[in-house]
Amino acid sequence: MKILNFGSCNLDHVYSVDHIVNTGETEAAEKLNLFAGGKGLNQSIAAARAGAEVYHAGCVGADGGMLLDVMTESGVDISNVRTVEEKTGHAIIQVTREGANSIVLYSGANNSLTEEFIDGVLDRFSEGDIILLQNETNLVDYVVERAYLRGMQVVLNPSPFNEKLSLVDFSKLSYIIMNEVEAREISGSSDIEVSLAYMKNKYPGLKVILTLGASGCIYSTATERFFHPAYSVTAVDTTAAGDTFAGYFAATVAGGGSCREAVRLATAASAIAVSRPGAAPSIPEREEVLSILPSLRPAANPGDGDKIREKIESYVDESLRDARLDALAEILGYSSVYTSEVVKRVMGKSFSKLLQDKRCTLAAKMLAETDMTVERIIYTLGYENESFFRKIFKEKYGTTPFEYRKNIKKR
Ligand code: RIB
Repeated sequence: MKILNFGSCNLDHVYSVDHIVNTGETEAAEKLNLFAGGKGLNQSIAAARAGAEVYHAGCVGADGGMLLDVMTESGVDISNVRTVEEKTGHAIIQVTREGANSIVLYSGANNSLTEEFIDGVLDRFSEGDIILLQNETNLVDYVVERAYLRGMQVVLNPSPFNEKLSLVDFSKLSYIIMNEVEAREISGSSDIEVSLAYMKNKYPGLKVILTLGASGCIYSTATERFFHPAYSVTAVDTTAAGDTFAGYFAATVAGGGSCREAVRLATAASAIAVSRPGAAPSIPEREEVLSILPSLRPAANPGDGDKIREKIESYVDESLRDARLDALAEILGYSSVYTSEVVKRVMGKSFSKLLQDKRCTLAAKMLAETDMTVERIIYTLGYENESFFRKIFKEKYGTTPFEYRKNIKKR
């Protein structure tokens, strides 16, 4: 399956700064680099490096030769890129030492698409092919309409979000890859659950991938939902992280991979991209992603810790007798494997240790405050193996349940 990307190509002027400059302030940059960029070009390069057959369509000016070279070297077909009178699009990017950025964009040649040009390019593609789009060119709405009529699978990354996107008919998309800001703009709510419900009701056929930065991402359709954590890396430059994700996601789906696999590879590739400077130069090759993936660790979810702790505590407290890791995983919206890591990180102990601790604490309370027999308490707490309970109780309280009661009652 081929991927056609109708997208922007920019010359990125990247200024390394101490902090993002404030209104009225002048700040000296520590370094200036010129990189190939543009959301479209970055996505095409990511998809090609992920192993897909990628065709880029768009416009550059006479000064855009470097961008064409970079795409060609990465294996992207550029026969559908036109050189026009306008200057090549460019971006002025400030990047801090922590990897945060701020971008001023000049569209230039990226706004030179015409309906005739779009139709001519689409003639070379067929039903089932993937078309990947962002919002840095003109006529995105037209491309969506025409690609949909041809039966192509449309993948839209609605970035940067602006009023032009109100012209796009989202019901004609197959996939949307959006971040929290874009989700809020589309749904009118900053609550991600409300946004996802809105998308599901309004566009039931749409596969939604909601990226949450360091908090991972959620894949959601009318019938399926899963969460994937971000991987922990030291951020050097977050520019093009989203583009890398979109390119890898589209490439994996084009290659017949499942959406779960696509999300996994896309998350890993964007984590690697974030750990390096620049846009296009930071995008890894597939081999590198595959070799680094096993050593990548899920990132902590800053800010979520307390909420997650509350959910874990209340689930275990309420289901003390028959608590199960997979049931907790369902509540948290994670896989069981990831849930077990989250429990360790947030609670400081494994799920099974947590459960035993809580059961023992309750057993101790029952021994002290009730006349229930030890056997009855063991049964109430859900233990099938009595000697196991007696062993862990002794480990925690240094004595048998019977002695424990005797000592308490003596006091
Ligand atoms: O997403 C990153 C890109 O956004 C940069 O390469 C820059 O060109 C802007 O378009």
